[in-house]
Amino acid sequence: MNLPAPRRVVLDTDPGIDDALAILLALASPEVDLAALSIVHGNCTLAEAVTNALALAELGSRPDLVVAAGCDRPLLRPPVTAHDTHGTSGLGYARLPRGAAQAVEEHAVELLIREIMAAPGEVTLVAVGPLTNVALALRKEPRLARAVRECIFMGGAFRAEGNITPLAEFNVYADPHAAQIVLSSGMPLTIMPWDITRDVRLTLADVERLLARGGPIPRFIAEATRYYIEFHQREFGWAGCSINDPAALALAWWPDLAQMRDLYVEVELASELTLGKTVGDSGGRSGRAPNVRLVERFDATTFVARFLQRMEDLADRLAA
Ligand code: RIB
Ligand code: CA
Repeated sequence: MNLPAPRRVVLDTDPGIDDALAILLALASPEVDLAALSIVHGNCTLAEAVTNALALAELGSRPDLVVAAGCDRPLLRPPVTAHDTHGTSGLGYARLPRGAAQAVEEHAVELLIREIMAAPGEVTLVAVGPLTNVALALRKEPRLARAVRECIFMGGAFRAEGNITPLAEFNVYADPHAAQIVLSSGMPLTIMPWDITRDVRLTLADVERLLARGGPIPRFIAEATRYYIEFHQREFGWAGCSINDPAALALAWWPDLAQMRDLYVEVELASELTLGKTVGDSGGRSGRAPNVRLVERFDATTFVARFLQRMEDLADRLAA
């Protein structure tokens, strides 16, 4: 049986613990040709995120992976980070060795433009951090909106409460102006919202199962998610942690796990109280054409099982 060609993916990311799991899932999945990591401020500072991305590439035995540093702050808003959620380093209790690999000289915004414009219709942009890099790339090269195969974005809170303010989800709240630029760009945009990913959880039992495999990958996942699970227990009373970013990434090759609907979406930019709230026009009252495919249902159980299997496969492959 001929397998489809791997999806060429650029991952725009703010690693961060769940971002780290998305990077490992991309490296573990034969359906993905991971072209590059473009790094953005968010869960931690840009410098911390670049260090973490390089260390994760080393952990995944991909010291050749292109890592490009992007924007270190939002377009207009003061920077926000989430060290309470992801720890002082951004990777929880995990401490990864720094390899020899360095970030490339090219700015992440330039990398996004170059990679996507060089192969129109071929590159899937998966954005799992604040959208500052993506927004600037669209402003510098508006043709990006038509050249990208699709953009999958983890962010927004629609019917669920926010996870950074009562209404807003972190990636949108951290740079709401960038999010609005992306939403109004005409880019084919699929949104995997907090409404869905909050319920895509890894439990301590899942982590114990991985640890039984032995080796550096399960050890990293255990040390990173132990911090992350403690945060979710404190913050939400949950016995597990939301693995938002790998769930969003997986839409690139397991779209059948999701049910989606077309929707017009805009971001609240005016009020301090509701800043960053993603407003979906589910009743069509705005008269605006849909600009987003929004994930409304997701088979979290199947995804988590597949994610664990991929992490075990990766652990076995790297231990061989
Ligand atoms: O709100 C969750 C999102 O914000 C995830 O991408 C997490 O890594 C943070 O970036
Ligand atoms: Ca993220």
